[in-house]
Amino acid sequence: MGKLYITDTILRDAHQSQAATRMRTEEMLPACELLDSMGYWSLECWGGATFDSCLRFLNEDPWERLRTLKKHLPHTRLQMLFRGQNILGYKHYADDVVEQFCRKAIENGIDVIRIFDALNDVRNLEAAIKFTKKYGGHCEPAISYTISPVHNEDYFVKLSKELVQMGADSICIKDMANLLLPMQAYDLIKRLKAEIDVPIHLHTHNTTGTGDMTLLMATLAGVDIVDTALSPLGNGTSQPATESLVATLRGTEYDTGIDLEKLSEAAKLFRPVAARLKKDGFLDPKVLSVDTNTLIYQVPGGMLSNLISQLKQANAEDKYYDVLEEVPRVRKDFGYPPLVTPTSQIVGSQAVLNVLSGERYKMFTKESKGLLRGEYGRLPGEVNEEVRKKAIGDEPVITCRPADLLKPELDTYRKELGDLAEKEEDVLSYALFPQVAKKFFEQRRAEENAEKTVSVASEAAPAAPVSNESPKAASNEVRTIYVEDLTEGMPL
Ligand code: CO
Repeated sequence: MGKLYITDTILRDAHQSQAATRMRTEEMLPACELLDSMGYWSLECWGGATFDSCLRFLNEDPWERLRTLKKHLPHTRLQMLFRGQNILGYKHYADDVVEQFCRKAIENGIDVIRIFDALNDVRNLEAAIKFTKKYGGHCEPAISYTISPVHNEDYFVKLSKELVQMGADSICIKDMANLLLPMQAYDLIKRLKAEIDVPIHLHTHNTTGTGDMTLLMATLAGVDIVDTALSPLGNGTSQPATESLVATLRGTEYDTGIDLEKLSEAAKLFRPVAARLKKDGFLDPKVLSVDTNTLIYQVPGGMLSNLISQLKQANAEDKYYDVLEEVPRVRKDFGYPPLVTPTSQIVGSQAVLNVLSGERYKMFTKESKGLLRGEYGRLPGEVNEEVRKKAIGDEPVITCRPADLLKPELDTYRKELGDLAEKEEDVLSYALFPQVAKKFFEQRRAEENAEKTVSVASEAAPAAPVSNESPKAASNEVRTIYVEDLTEGMPL
């Protein structure tokens, strides 16, 4: 028991959860000096959807963002979110790509790597844990928290012990859907503190309005570190606000030691950023209201908005509640996967298909088949074999670690990208988001060539006009083209 440590998510999950991950590096920098002096345990600032968003929408090199943040935050641990064998993408990568990514992330400034797997299959965490440690990072495997007949306290305690044995420096309880209620949080953390020796780090959201209470009960149970977000992008689908918790604990044995007035200064710097995100249509005020459907249907908030948009596209919004009731049934048939990227989308899309086609499992998505075939790893509970047979017939189910079936692939990516790569990090960007990264590199090359032309021209004629507008205009174009292609709203 004692001081509670804080990880602020203002630079990653806060804007990912509320504003489609659209905060720009230039909007982060003015607050960095203040953030760096706050005494946070860490700042979550990279990974999750930030990488994709930089390349796809913001015309930013995510590696450049990381190096810049490191330079401006020299005294604070920088933390990233890493999706196990999927790294930051949506498929399994070979171990050599996982290794190189861990190495480069740490070399460029990451201190803490939080690693999760949607299915809690520890075999999907093995490589990332090993390589994080090999290159000197703080390794924080996460438990994807969910509720089901197989996911009880014993299950999570056993899983945590396994992760400690694998080398965890701390354990995160990752409650991406805000399903962990205050009293359950208290009991779970009490048990974890009694049975394991590494620090416990709690990540939750405030979608259902219970987040602050959950953090308080977790604190009373002895949790070591919690995630919060500065108030301009706190609460709702984001983390509970930092200031509220810091004030609540002030003067108690859990005092965070963080200065409330400094927090208020930092909040002042992020208010215009939140206003800009709202003005540009990325922050819809409805993400701030309490969403009780999650409490009833146990469907994460981000998934709800995803279902609504899928139904809108099919002109079937009246089927919303039918789909909501179908989600838990599909989840049961699929062996109770936690609903987090990518399983939330897989289960959600299958539920929509089941309702709209008028017959359950008349059709399957490619991803549903993959999940049932074991491509994503071991499903936590028993799978409905009738459904599996309908999906994949007599095809064999993968029972080994899925990545064991993959040959090294870094060289292939390196060759494919060719001379568009200016550094090894570019190969990793390309491996994760091939089309988006390639487009980004081509544009970068074009801009470099244009600059060369301009500088040659300006030597001849110093008055040659140099447009400052072109990079901005280009980034607007990227945004318009891809605006329908969002990865936002996914529970992370
Ligand atoms: Co989250």
